[in-house]
Amino acid sequence: MASERSFEDKTLLVTGGAGFIGSNFIHYWLKRYSRCRVINLDKLTYAGNLDNLKEVDKDPRYEFIQGDIRDKKLVKKIFRKVQGVVHFAAETHVDRSILDAGEFVLTDVFGTFVLLDALKDSKVEFFIHLSTDEVYGSRDKGHFSEEDPLCPSSPYSASKAGADRLAYAYHKTYSLPIIILRPSNNFGPYQYPEKFIPLFVTNALEGKPLPLYGRGTNVRDWLYVEDHCRAIDLVIRAGKLGEIYNVGANAEIENNVVAEKIVDFLGKPKSLIKRVPDRLGHDKRYALDCRKVRALGWKPEWDFEEALASTVQWYQENQIWWKKIKEKSRDFRSFYEEYYRRR
Ligand code: NAD
Ligand code: TYD
Repeated sequence: MASERSFEDKTLLVTGGAGFIGSNFIHYWLKRYSRCRVINLDKLTYAGNLDNLKEVDKDPRYEFIQGDIRDKKLVKKIFRKVQGVVHFAAETHVDRSILDAGEFVLTDVFGTFVLLDALKDSKVEFFIHLSTDEVYGSRDKGHFSEEDPLCPSSPYSASKAGADRLAYAYHKTYSLPIIILRPSNNFGPYQYPEKFIPLFVTNALEGKPLPLYGRGTNVRDWLYVEDHCRAIDLVIRAGKLGEIYNVGANAEIENNVVAEKIVDFLGKPKSLIKRVPDRLGHDKRYALDCRKVRALGWKPEWDFEEALASTVQWYQENQIWWKKIKEKSRDFRSFYEEYYRRR
């Protein structure tokens, strides 16, 4: 294994820390490193939620700054105070990107550019860029390795691919200390209930239909968010600067199987699962070759069934958390359904 960077007594900037993976990562990091400090820069878009961080908001090691990653002055100022950056902030929902791609380009591409440019004039020791497996596009067989060409097919994944290549270019051109991660679909606590698993779990709890796109045969590789956080931690300590790491759990499952498991766990009837018109340009399958991150010493600790059961239980026990969000996101869901009805 490569020699490890020690980072536990330094200050980390987490962008998008009020979102799903970012908030899980902040919890993970503060628990694991007692002498660390974390600054969370988040704009609090519809997806950002300070309820995700209630347990840590009084922690003297934690500071929240409400702000935009596109704010050059603010970003430069924060970069003077931190030694490392983990960049999660993005627009992330494929369905929203199909309806309106503008914010995806502006946040995911331009926002990442602002951060990378600030990195040029800073003493920051490493910058972890969160890309996604979706930048490769879809494939029916085999697995994508880090050397494969990118062929993104949604406005979301195309924006993420732009950011991914910019991060690479800033490493190559300016020798900046950047590492790119391409994780697969995450699930777990605090995921905004517009994404597949939390939407299906919460709809089932409410006795509402579970809208399965197309034939439900699309395949995703499901990664439990805690396993993902451990991978980020390891890459911070031992990842090679300038490298790209795929992170997947090798848990490839068709959507209809996941949907059935959810209703089974909750003791609900399968008739709640309703087929609806397919997502435009719906990628069939994502699949990653993760030998590189495994060679660093990472492997998923959670089995998919156990992680799904634990996630379902979390949503059962935290109904106030998601009911508040769902109330606010009703407009998007009706807009989305209307868009597909009119096509
Ligand atoms: P999320 O949508 O739950 O959270 C995104 C966060 O970014 C929110 O808190 C939001 O307020 C913040 N944000 C958005 N625009 C901002 C801006 N301009 N300035 C500051 N903050 C802003 O996202 P997530 O699911 O936690 O994903 C985190 C990262 O991981 C993203 O970069 C995403 O592309 C990547 N990723 C996610 C998954 C997944 O399954 N969720 C898989 C692979 C990669
Ligand atoms: P999603 O959680 O949006 O993640 P991504 O599209 O980024 O992989 O969707 C996961 C899978 O679930 C994807 O194949 C689309 C499907 N899906 C549905 O069938 N119904 C839904 O309501 C949603 C949101 C997703």
